[in-house]
Amino acid sequence: MPLVPSYIKKLKSYKPGKSIAEAKREFESKSFIKLASNENPYGPSPKSIQAIKQARHKIHRYPDATGFELRNSLALKYNLNVNNVILGSGSEGIMSTIMRTFLLKDDELISASNSFIGFKVLANASGCKTHWVPMKSNRYDLKEISNNINDYTKIIYIANPDNPMGTYITRAEFDKFYKSVPARVLIILDEAYFEYAKDFKRYPNSMNYRYDNVITLRTFSKAYGLAGIRVGYGFAHDSLIGNLLKVKAPFEPSLLGQIAANAALKDQLFLEKSIKMNARGIQYLENEFTKIGINFISSSTNFITTIWPTERIASQINQSLLKKGFIVRQLTAFGSPNYIRISIGLEEENYKFIKTIKEVL
Ligand SMILES: Cc1ncc(COP(=O)(O)O)c(C=O)c1O
Repeated sequence: MPLVPSYIKKLKSYKPGKSIAEAKREFESKSFIKLASNENPYGPSPKSIQAIKQARHKIHRYPDATGFELRNSLALKYNLNVNNVILGSGSEGIMSTIMRTFLLKDDELISASNSFIGFKVLANASGCKTHWVPMKSNRYDLKEISNNINDYTKIIYIANPDNPMGTYITRAEFDKFYKSVPARVLIILDEAYFEYAKDFKRYPNSMNYRYDNVITLRTFSKAYGLAGIRVGYGFAHDSLIGNLLKVKAPFEPSLLGQIAANAALKDQLFLEKSIKMNARGIQYLENEFTKIGINFISSSTNFITTIWPTERIASQINQSLLKKGFIVRQLTAFGSPNYIRISIGLEEENYKFIKTIKEVL
């Protein structure tokens, strides 16, 4: 079809982790435990649910296009000005706005291969040239990313911590890397898993060093338990945010999204419980994997990525787990087909998972 640009024709559509409904259709009405999409197994905060209940009669109205209340809450929490905050339909919504705002046809993007697919899909759909730098020992190779910078580079994307590896770049590594990046290049620091990583000693909380060419992206989809309602946020220099606001779809995030996220921000107890239970789950699974002899990458997130000898073995494990009612994520679409990513579940789900993987092996 002449209508479709060649770079769109070449794209493969984003394949998310299998949903429970999909698995049920495939395996005929069994019950499933989904550990495939790095969601919060403890659900949303009760405060978010309450806020949604109260607001449900208002959904015939458009949301506040400026997202003022939520932006203001975020600005207060992080000691910023409202003009430094942007909202979007998930952090991916903001990534999309960034690309539509800044990219010209000859611009180029750099990131790691085997990193977050959501960014890869958007970058490839932009029609701009992309450089995917292989990871080194399952971590971003910042030196090689620097080596790929040229006169056309416009955007560098770093997921910190990374999905699907679960690893993070340290403050010292980022500081060194930052010095190699020209001021005209925008660095996207995607901190979707910030809440899980923030207490690691060497983790660089990007809020402690605001640079004019860095945008921090965060989300309510992970520790805050609101993946389904699609709210992400970003922090950057006000001129950068001002330009993004001109391009952003006017009414994202939705009315209920803004209200639920604002309520979630006020439920520190729920957030802390989610983080604590996740850390416990990580420790339990990592201990058990070590005992069983499963090779894994130590995680600073809400998932653990395991490494298997071959793609075929990973595929067999994945299928056997599915038959036994567990949805996990083989990382074929991420370019690592012998890797399987397992999201941390409820305590009883984690116990059951270990029992099941032992049977499968
Ligand atoms: C690194 C990373 N960034 C962004 C996202 C998407 O976040 P959102 O739901 O806010 O679009 C994910 C989700 O898995 C992720 O892993």
